Amino acid sequence: MEKVIITGADGFVGSYTVQHFLNEGCEVLALDMGDAPRRLKPEGKLSYKKCDVSDIAKMKEIIPAGIYDTFVHFAWAGSSGEARIDHKLQMQNALNTVECMKVAKELGCSRFVCAGSIMEYEVEAAIHSQGSHPGMGYIYGMGKHIAHCMCKAIAANIGIDLLWPMITNAYGVGEYSPRFVNTTLRKIINGEPLQFTAATQNYDFVYVTDVAQAFYKVAKNGKPFCEYMIGSGNAKPLKEFILEMVGSCGPDSKPLFGDVPFTGTNMPLSTFAIDDIKNDCGYEPEVSFGEGTKMTMDWLHTI
Ligand SMILES: NC(=O)c1ccc[n+]([C@@H]2O[C@H](COP(=O)([O-])OP(=O)(O)OC[C@H]3O[C@@H](n4cnc5c(N)ncnc54)[C@H](O)[C@@H]3O)[C@@H](O)[C@H]2O)c1
Repeated sequence: MEKVIITGADGFVGSYTVQHFLNEGCEVLALDMGDAPRRLKPEGKLSYKKCDVSDIAKMKEIIPAGIYDTFVHFAWAGSSGEARIDHKLQMQNALNTVECMKVAKELGCSRFVCAGSIMEYEVEAAIHSQGSHPGMGYIYGMGKHIAHCMCKAIAANIGIDLLWPMITNAYGVGEYSPRFVNTTLRKIINGEPLQFTAATQNYDFVYVTDVAQAFYKVAKNGKPFCEYMIGSGNAKPLKEFILEMVGSCGPDSKPLFGDVPFTGTNMPLSTFAIDDIKNDCGYEPEVSFGEGTKMTMDWLHTI
């Protein structure tokens, strides 16, 4: 793996992943929506192009064929916040993913690596349970799952190796989205009430540099047509993460459990297992939850 295209490259996870590939000596073509990147810093082996991945014709026009060996796809609108329930947007994201994979094949890439989500498992469990009424929050995970299903069949048909790493929950310095760690740390800083569900559901958080390492190792060593869970290797009930985070970052705050109804699906700890990605790809998480939340909190105090 030497020359890599990365979409959504200027996003939170994408930008760390670009840096990891560069550190490993790869040449990276980074694609994102902005005229100029906000997170990515100029570097010799990095080139940046503005590219909306829903404009497939334009993408084919601006990327030369026969140069790149691997295509890593992060571009996805509304992966957090209110837009997660926008079914048209999520369907468009799924369609963009399939079309990007077909472009990757046309450009001569032999591997297509796409950012999946652990929510795909929750979606399956919720949908296949008789009489269930899945919440709207599942729409995003459904989009990911549709993309995954269709990419797998089409990849086999057109002859490109598909790899599907699934992120549990990434967090860290540079995150602005309303995801759990970021939101909770900001509430601690602002002295706002900390209200949660009973938080007995299993969960995992993985520091963003470990996610970037995982994408590099899956792209390089992953077995074709396999999916890989990206986690910390230390999944446990959410309440334990919350107590650890509050204990180290806001010891004066009092978390309230049970105030918010839980409408999700509790996944078994086995869903979060990272044995496959460790054994096949050589992934080893390096940042503990304590270290990661401290770095994130220190950064939040500076912005
Ligand atoms: N952060 C997590 O915990 C997590 C968990 C599971 C899966 N994921 C997936 O990982 C990927 C990256 O997530 P993130 O947290 O960095 O999100 P992010 O929103 O920070 O990054 C997404 C990037 O994609 C770009 N993008 C969106 N639509 C595009 C389009 N049409 N053309 C080109 N670029 C486009 C955005 O500009 C943004 O820079 C997403 O696919 C997301 O669904 C993230």
